[in-house]
Amino acid sequence: MNYEFAERLKNIPPYLFAEIEEKVSKKKAEGVDILDFGIGDPDLPTPKLIIDEIKKQLDDPQNYQYSSSAGERETRVAVAEWYKTRFNVDLDPDKEVVILLGSKEGLANFARAFANAGDKILCPDPAYPVYSLGAALLCDAYPEYVKTYAEDGFLPQLDTLPQDGKMLYVNFPNNPTGATAPASYLKDLLQWGEESKTIICYDNAYSEMTYDDYLAPSILEFGRNAIEFGSLSKTFNMTGYRIGYAVGDEKLIAGLKKVKSQTDSGAPKFIQKAAVTALKTYTGPQRPAIVQECVDIYCERRDIFVDGLRELGINAQKPKGTFYLFVDVGMNALEFAEKMLDVGIVVTPGTGYGEAGEGFVRIALTQPKERIFEALERMRKVL
Ligand SMILES: Cc1ncc(COP(=O)(O)O)c(C=O)c1O
Repeated sequence: MNYEFAERLKNIPPYLFAEIEEKVSKKKAEGVDILDFGIGDPDLPTPKLIIDEIKKQLDDPQNYQYSSSAGERETRVAVAEWYKTRFNVDLDPDKEVVILLGSKEGLANFARAFANAGDKILCPDPAYPVYSLGAALLCDAYPEYVKTYAEDGFLPQLDTLPQDGKMLYVNFPNNPTGATAPASYLKDLLQWGEESKTIICYDNAYSEMTYDDYLAPSILEFGRNAIEFGSLSKTFNMTGYRIGYAVGDEKLIAGLKKVKSQTDSGAPKFIQKAAVTALKTYTGPQRPAIVQECVDIYCERRDIFVDGLRELGINAQKPKGTFYLFVDVGMNALEFAEKMLDVGIVVTPGTGYGEAGEGFVRIALTQPKERIFEALERMRKVL
């Protein structure tokens, strides 16, 4: 049978990195020791107290059944309490919180609740591709790209944003650029959202991964006309467990809950209960030891990599957040990535996140420092 993809699926562009992946596989088959800085997935283990909690919860048969697509009440309460402890933001766990199967699920499903076919969804460029592809295109909406630039700190410039979008996705601390947003910007953004009647979708997946005494805020500290997405993936090294949350305006949360009620039946109960244990490790805005230890490791890697690149004549910057370096390599991004691959180093061309990523590569700090020293040594030979 000749099955045909739906038009909306055909609209998803082909995977840009297929060629690179093929080359990586070939190198691996040749026995090359690949240094992979392409993957945005923590290499550090999930803290023991979380794993112990999951093991304990697995012994309770009550946890074998469906949860609710909105999430267990206990987990919603824990998220609300965490927001109070961490950001001093008050949330109603029954109306302003929904538990997600990872924030990616919520980011993509949210558009289904509020965008009609043909609506414009404003997506920064460069950005996490799920906004334009998972949210806009799979919803028959139109991704309107908003280019951002290093000289503006990769902040979408509010005075140039289209006024006729249904929603705008923004993400700080940012993947891939590592950019963070000052409080004044977030205040202006909420005001802009209200004036232009654009829904602000704030992706705060990296809120806990920040350096140099900087603590990332919640956008809800500055106003309530937004939905904010968060995740335990990067904070607690739980990417594979699939657990996140969305919080914010009651109507926006209700829309997402309604979509979810027809698409999933909730995250596994034993994972949700472990999430409660994880969130309760916070006793104030500062990170608990289990999180801080990981942040310190990424910070050391950041400093080693950036200092090493600068010695090689590359003008790399130290991001205040995320475990990504977004490096201006002064040449075609794909060509630079291929040059790196010749010496067994995987980096991601910035163009994978949008046209405005040209000239940049993203380096994920998800390898131990010994591997970073090795990468710098190999780079020295070809740069
Ligand atoms: C900016 C951003 N948002 C959201 C996610 C999704 O994370 P998760 O679905 O694991 O919560 C990622 C994952 O890499 C990301 O980089």
